[in-house]
Amino acid sequence: MALYSEKVMDHFRNPRNVGVIEDADGVGEVGNAKCGDIMKMYLKIEDEIIKDVKFETFGCGSAIASSSMATEMIKGQPVSEAMKLTNKAVAEALDGLPDYKMHCSVLAEEAIKNALEDYESRKNNK
Ligand code: FES
Repeated sequence: MALYSEKVMDHFRNPRNVGVIEDADGVGEVGNAKCGDIMKMYLKIEDEIIKDVKFETFGCGSAIASSSMATEMIKGQPVSEAMKLTNKAVAEALDGLPDYKMHCSVLAEEAIKNALEDYESRKNNK
């Protein structure tokens, strides 16, 4: 069996939603101290709906594939739904990740949660 699913390879080679949103409503950045990979998420939110999402990932192929898939999963979703996104759901949508690569999908979950928390705190400070 191939180590990585076709979906992982597809999202790694052609990542969706790569980039920066200059006037983002929420930005989240997380890193993994062990592997040194870093992921940054930008959210554009209108009426509690995620209108746009972009990411920058300095990391391994699984981290890039996970961030790409995660952005596709939350785009167009209400904030409350995006908050429930788990790394397991991201890995499943990618048709699985090797066990020792599961932490890469955790980075995607954390980056999104971080960006949503940033959005909430900006909202409360308005
Ligand atoms: Fe660290 Fe993939 S090896 S995020």
